[in-house]
Order: sequence, then structure tokens, then C-alpha cells
Amino acid sequence: MARIHSPFHTLNFTILCILLILTVNPNFILSSRNDDDFSIIDFDTNLFHQDYSPPAPPPPPPHAPSVSCTDDLGGIGSLDSTCQIVSDLNLTRDVYIAGKGNFVILPGVRFHCPISGCSIILNISGNFTLGKDSSIVTGAFELVAQNASFLNNSVLNTTGLAGKPPPQTSGTPQGIDGAGGGHGGRGACCLVDDTKLPEDVWGGDAYSWSSLQTPESFGSKGGTTSKEVDYGGGGGGRVKLEITGFVVVDGNVLADGGDGGNKGGGGSGGSIFIQAYKMTGSGVIRACGGNGFAGGGGGRVSVNIFSRHDEPKIFVHGGSSFGCPENAGAAGTMYDAVPRTLTVSNHNMTTDTETLLLEFPNQPMWTNVYVRNHARATVPLLWSRVQVCGT
Ligand SMILES: *[C@@H]1O[C@H](CO)[C@@H](O)[C@H](O)[C@H]1NC(C)=O
Ligand SMILES: *[C@@H]1O[C@H](CO)[C@@H](O)[C@H](O)[C@H]1NC(C)=O
Ligand SMILES: *[C@@H]1O[C@H](CO)[C@@H](O)[C@H](O)[C@H]1NC(C)=O
Ligand SMILES: *[C@@H]1O[C@H](CO)[C@@H](O)[C@H](O)[C@H]1NC(C)=O
Ligand SMILES: *[C@@H]1O[C@H](CO)[C@@H](O)[C@H](O)[C@H]1NC(C)=O
Ligand SMILES: *[C@@H]1O[C@H](CO)[C@@H](O)[C@H](O)[C@H]1NC(C)=O
Ligand SMILES: *[C@@H]1O[C@H](CO)[C@@H](O)[C@H](O)[C@H]1NC(C)=O
Repeated sequence: MARIHSPFHTLNFTILCILLILTVNPNFILSSRNDDDFSIIDFDTNLFHQDYSPPAPPPPPPHAPSVSCTDDLGGIGSLDSTCQIVSDLNLTRDVYIAGKGNFVILPGVRFHCPISGCSIILNISGNFTLGKDSSIVTGAFELVAQNASFLNNSVLNTTGLAGKPPPQTSGTPQGIDGAGGGHGGRGACCLVDDTKLPEDVWGGDAYSWSSLQTPESFGSKGGTTSKEVDYGGGGGGRVKLEITGFVVVDGNVLADGGDGGNKGGGGSGGSIFIQAYKMTGSGVIRACGGNGFAGGGGGRVSVNIFSRHDEPKIFVHGGSSFGCPENAGAAGTMYDAVPRTLTVSNHNMTTDTETLLLEFPNQPMWTNVYVRNHARATVPLLWSRVQVCGT
């Protein structure tokens, strides 16, 4: 029995109707301006499994002291003026890098900590530059700077390198169906169950919707098809950019779920949060589900940028399912704080798997919710307008 649908049955007919339209006929444009019509006061949150209300995370531990530009990172200069990373570096532990200057990774240089959950925190007063063709690979990347540039063909890649997702989540599917991991959207499951509707069969579940405005959860690992070997793709990592000035993304900022191949589910996408005054560039920002026997669900991206243009392109779609190509992982969530819009887009990948949007504060949080490009969403109607576009 679908755990999620049952609470909605206690709501009034209007809401049921709208849910049906949302999930059955995605060509509809719905407009509901009277919030008071939709009350969730009777909503019984106890009907939800424990993992739908994860506790607040504990406060982060205090930082270790900053590493040094020359001794620890093999760079040139100083973190209080300009530190340049001039040659490849393989880190083997978390690093905290702080100073009053600029931090520059020169073109073509690899700055890597390819360990699940490895954390690189860079806290500088000046500019950050990831040079042309250079790369950062890590599980979590947090940047505080005045300006940041991710130049052509560079990559900040946390794909498949998640650490542990929040406790009490069920993002990694049980069993050996090779289902996808869940996070912003549910992971797909290729199992055919004639006793259930297609949307009632899924892999890893969604979580962390209460923080979709400031996402910081890791994605989840996909399932496996074998009792002996864990073939699941790793969850997507996390990226947080807190930039007071300008961000240029001409390269790639990635928190995708890892690939599970033919024998494992795709990992779910991780989290990307970008706060800045202005963002430009022709690059790509993605927290998509990994491909696999069944695709992982998309992750969560949120931007809080005063001046943002259409580019760089942002993607949070689910991963492809090799075992059931018509049922990709569900789309994740993309929140834009400035117009207060939430977009759930599966980039035209067909799916039976849903994106669950649950939020319990008693005020409407979003002006607009767009569900488009084959995404399917289940929502409680706290919002002033829900728009469903695309085919
Ligand atoms: C970093 O690790 C990779 C993969 O193990 C290796 O190919 C490369 O040579 C290493 N680079 C350095 C600078 O140690
Ligand atoms: C960055 O450094 C400032 C001052 O040194 C400190 O207050 C802040 O907490 C640091 N932020 C992070 C993310 O480490
Ligand atoms: C950040 O970029 C803006 C515009 O390019 C520039 O005016 C400003 O001086 C930069 N900040 C720093 C610390 O260089
Ligand atoms: C920071 O970058 C901007 C362009 O993005 C450049 O104009 C400025 O000189 C840089 N600031 C410093 C302190 O290097
Ligand atoms: C970066 O790429 C864009 C198009 O992707 C191109 O227009 C621009 O000239 C490139 N810049 C450099 C410095 O190569
Ligand atoms: C990012 O990392 C993943 C996993 O290691 C890799 O498959 C992918 O090619 C990388 N992407 C880029 C653009 O380097
Ligand atoms: C999805 O398909 C529609 C109709 O074919 C097309 O107009 C739209 O551009 C597509 N969107 C994406 C993101 O591919």
C-alpha cells in the first residue's frame, strides 16, 4: 500500500481532484488562488513513516585550523594575498582553507580528494578561480568568497562521492531489485507488480524537502541486483557557494548520482546551493540521478541570486533506467529564491516515478510551482499557484 497516498484520502474531494489532474493529465494548467480552500489542519503526520521527519542536524563541528598554501597544498604564495595551485594534488583527508586573499587553481590542474564524503571548505575574502580545463573532485565542496569563476571546460565534480545521507532516510532501496536511490525525487524501480499502480512502485524514497531552499544533504546509493556484490551507484555529493559578488560558471558544477551500470541502481543526485549577487556563464549546473538498471532520483538545487540570467543551465532530472527505459528516476527539485519558484522538470525523460513535495509550515512558501517536461509531482496544496506544463 502506498504510504504517501493514504493521508490524502483524508482530505476533501477538491484536493483529490487536483492530485489526479497533476498525476494523470500533465497538460493541465491549474490555477488556485484561494489558499483557504485547502486546509491541511487534519493532516495526520503520524501516518508518515518515521523517516519523513528527520531531526534537525547537529551543529557542524568547529573547523580544524586552515592548511597552508605552500606546505600543505604545494601551492605558490599565501592565502592572505594570492595562493596559486600550480600542480596536481591528491588530498587524502578533509581540508579547511581560509585566508584574506585569492585562491586560484591554474589551468589544467587537478585538485582532487576522490574519497566518499571528503570535504573541502574554502573560506577566503577575495576571488576564487578554477582555471580552464582544471578540476576539483571531492564529496563536498563549500566556498565562501567575494567572486568565483569556473572557467571553460573546468569541472567541480562531486558525482557519486556522497558521504552518509541524513539519518532515518530511506533513500537507498531495500532488496535486490537494482532500484534507484532517492533524494529530491524517488528512485525508479523496474519491478512489475500487477497489484499496484505504476506510480506506487518505486525504489529509494525522497527526503529533505523541508530544506529544499537551502539543500545540504548528500544523495543516496542505488540498490543492487546481487546478494553478494553491491553494484549500486554512489549518491551525489554536495556543493555550497556563498559568494558576495559575482559568479561565472563557464564550466561544470556537478552533484550527480553515480552510475550503477546494468546490475545496480543509479545513485540519487546530491545538493547544490548557490548564493550570489550575480551569476553569468555558459556552463552547466547539475544534480541529476545516476543511470543504472533503474535510474536514481534527481537531487536538489537552490539558487538565491539577485541577478540571474537563463544561463548557466541547471538540471535536476532523474537517471535513465536500462531495465525499464520508459520509467526513469523522478525529477529532483530546483528552487529559485528570487522569484520564489519551484521547478520540477524531468527534461522529457518519461517516468512513472513521482517527486514528493511535502512541507508542513502553515504559510504558503512558494509563489509558483512548475511541474514540467514529464515530471510527476505529488503536492499538498499550500501554494498559491500550481502550474503544470509540457507533455
Ligand atoms: C593522483 O591519483 C591518481 C589516481 O590514483 C594518479 O593517477 C595521479 O598520478 C595522482 N597524482 C598525484 C599528483 O599524486
Ligand atoms: C569563514 O570565516 C569567517 C571569519 O573568519 C567565519 O566567521 C565563518 O564562519 C567562516 N565560514 C565558513 C563556512 O567556514
Ligand atoms: C568582483 O568582481 C567585480 C566585477 O568583475 C569587481 O568589480 C570586483 O572588484 C571583484 N572583487 C574582487 C575582490 O576582486
Ligand atoms: C577578482 O576578479 C575580478 C574579475 O572577476 C578581477 O577584476 C579582480 O581584479 C580580481 N580581484 C583580485 C583582488 O584579484
Ligand atoms: C568559453 O566558451 C564559450 C562558449 O562555450 C566561448 O564563447 C568562449 O570564447 C570561451 N572562452 C574561452 C576563454 O575560451
Ligand atoms: C565526474 O565524475 C564522474 C564519476 O567519477 C565521472 O564519471 C564523470 O565523467 C566526471 N565528469 C566530468 C565532466 O569530468
Ligand atoms: C520537451 O519536449 C517538448 C515537446 O517535444 C519540447 O518543446 C521541449 O523543448 C523539450 N524539453 C526539453 C528540456 O528537452
